[in-house]
Amino acid sequence: MKYLAHTRDGTIEFNVPTYRDGKILSEHEGNLLAVEIAQATIADGAVVELGGLPMRSPAEIKAGGRMPTTDEIREFYDMIATPRKGDGWFGSTQHIDKSFGRTQYALKHIEPGMSIMEAGCADGGLSQHLVEAVGPDGFTTLIDISSVFVARAEPFVLGRNPGAKIEFVVGDAAEYKTRRRYDVIVAMEILEHVVDPRKLISSLFGLLRKDSGKIIVSVPTGVEDALGEHLYEFSEEDVSVILGDATGLHVSTEVIGSTIFAIVDKKRAVPYVR
Ligand SMILES: C[S@@+](CC[C@H](N)C(=O)[O-])C[C@H]1O[C@@H](n2cnc3c(N)ncnc32)[C@H](O)[C@@H]1O
Repeated sequence: MKYLAHTRDGTIEFNVPTYRDGKILSEHEGNLLAVEIAQATIADGAVVELGGLPMRSPAEIKAGGRMPTTDEIREFYDMIATPRKGDGWFGSTQHIDKSFGRTQYALKHIEPGMSIMEAGCADGGLSQHLVEAVGPDGFTTLIDISSVFVARAEPFVLGRNPGAKIEFVVGDAAEYKTRRRYDVIVAMEILEHVVDPRKLISSLFGLLRKDSGKIIVSVPTGVEDALGEHLYEFSEEDVSVILGDATGLHVSTEVIGSTIFAIVDKKRAVPYVR
């Protein structure tokens, strides 16, 4: 969260974490920390503007003529992952039910014992069900760009699946490197949030097992983007072209209600033809 501090020498913009000592800060606690940081690092007697600076959403930045930077995207998701009184939005996906369409779609492809990843896990609403499906012999990597979301996902998902083998990662899923190889990578409701969706898919594709493995994607269609999170509004054809270009393989797509689903299955190994 960015704050402004006014000093005798001018106004300075500075960063204040939204998370401290294992706890998400309320707006009031954020203000207190901002004052503490300003006095310790800027100037004794610096006057801090409480409440922080209004943050521009990724969609607003794009509408202003450029794409958001990774830092701007991370700060935005840290902000929406941070419950704030008065926002009316508590940045939570934890309510996602097992019977929910997106969950059911992903679960059709997951079996006990698999090694899976969820890219853009938020606070674990979908992840809880994926982890349950791979069971105690499976392994799950949950990655999100927001440390606040991951900090909320960890106790929640482990609480629902005690003893499950899970790796929690904070970072850009498109940059994630590991020697581990996955049976299934779930990338639901993330493609429309990233600056370069082809790069994300191509990087995830490289993490699948050598001769098998699936990427399962979903994006919303015709849904209002109230928070300004979406950088793109994709059609079914757009999703097919992105996944096909990035993987070189045939893409199966279908639209169910307000969701476009897409799958690339390495086992089918049918080349993509535009
Ligand atoms: C709408 S939520 C989707 C949550 C979950 N996958 C689902 O389907 O319910 C999108 C998530 O993607 C994350 N995200 C955005 N860009 C990302 C990136 N480059 N790498 C990893 N996570 C990212 C956001 O922080 C947010 O938690």
